[in-house]
Amino acid sequence: MNAPRPFAPGFRLGVLGGGQLGRMLLQAAIDFNLEVAVMDPDPQAPCASLTPLFRHGSITDAQSVVEFGRQCHVLTIEIENVSAEGLRALEGMGVQVRPPARVVELIQDKRAQKQFYRDNGIPTAPFVLTRDRAEVEALAHWLPAVHKLGREGYDGRGVQIIRTPEQLHKAFDKPGLLEKLIDFKKEISVIVARNASGQTQAFPAVELVYHPEHNLVDYLVSPAAIEPAEESAAHALALEIAQKIQLVGILAVEMFLLHDGSLMVNEMAPRTHNSGHQSIEANFSSQFEQHLRAVLDLPLASTREKIPSAMVNLLGQDGHSGPARYLGMEEVLSIEGASVHLYGKANTKPFRKMGHVTVVDHDRGRLVEKIHQVKRCLRVVSQAQN
Ligand SMILES: Nc1ncnc2c1ncn2[C@@H]1O[C@H](COP(=O)(O)OP(=O)(O)O)[C@@H](O)[C@H]1O
Ligand SMILES: [Mg+2]
Repeated sequence: MNAPRPFAPGFRLGVLGGGQLGRMLLQAAIDFNLEVAVMDPDPQAPCASLTPLFRHGSITDAQSVVEFGRQCHVLTIEIENVSAEGLRALEGMGVQVRPPARVVELIQDKRAQKQFYRDNGIPTAPFVLTRDRAEVEALAHWLPAVHKLGREGYDGRGVQIIRTPEQLHKAFDKPGLLEKLIDFKKEISVIVARNASGQTQAFPAVELVYHPEHNLVDYLVSPAAIEPAEESAAHALALEIAQKIQLVGILAVEMFLLHDGSLMVNEMAPRTHNSGHQSIEANFSSQFEQHLRAVLDLPLASTREKIPSAMVNLLGQDGHSGPARYLGMEEVLSIEGASVHLYGKANTKPFRKMGHVTVVDHDRGRLVEKIHQVKRCLRVVSQAQN
């Protein structure tokens, strides 16, 4: 018997991970009237109360992933730290795993990712693989550099900038890579989609502005203020990678734009991404809808921009841990073209991603003013300390 297709009775999509990305994917899935099952290790994850098919379970344990995934026709992810062994087993059982297990495996390990760029002639920062801290300490002549954990680093937590030999002790004592510190002009990101039929689409490049201390995106602007030739080169690079890895799904490709206009790929993620949130309000289709279309092998949507936009991450205030309270919400809601997204996390922690705000404006100057207005008035604090 053939498995049901999307829009047919009985079709079920599974998602590993029930955080904010899963939550926004559910929002898009509602419009397609899809039945979506979600699994997350946190019983209070942002998706927990939003689908009757929420399962509390480990996404890094092969058996638990198989038990969950075998009840789905298509299985996707909102985070790459999932059991690849489980995904492979499901593929063997005929579940359509999208992105495929081999793509997830490649991206789970930054060492394998960097090696992939090198082997395929994709420009990337020069690097050496390191097994432990002692190996990094022997590489003082490589400084200034950035040491990155091979596995399980995220939101800047697996990245250490090492400028001087005195800072070498900050290196991770686990398998990783040391790469040259790049003096870039801008950081940009391009999200591309590819469905199983091989159709591709790319969102306009966006420009990411990082928090100076925490390696987290502070805000982003879409489209990036870059030359048309730089934009087409960035698109070509992201699409080339999507083809080379035979992607099915979407892929966010973070790049450095250098002062001479050339590009280097920093890293990639085969899923919806923080650098695509503004697409909900500002593009013909959102990255979430596009992800659904790609993994369900439906025609991809236009990614064209409707209006310039910016997205500000709403991070938990430093020094505040506990039940979250949002200050300045009414002021933000009074800004024309501001859309607030709260992720439904009960507790705040310093720099935890609690939500985001998208602002839109046809005028770039006013857009930047709105970003600063949002940053000035909106804060996430804990009840205990306020
Ligand atoms: N080689 C590098 N040179 C300069 N800055 C870097 C380099 N690698 C990373 N960074 C900075 O650190 C940030 C986080 O690094 P990244 O590899 O993207 O890790 P994460 O998985 O935490 O996103 C980047 O967005 C960039 O701002
Ligand atoms: Mg990154």
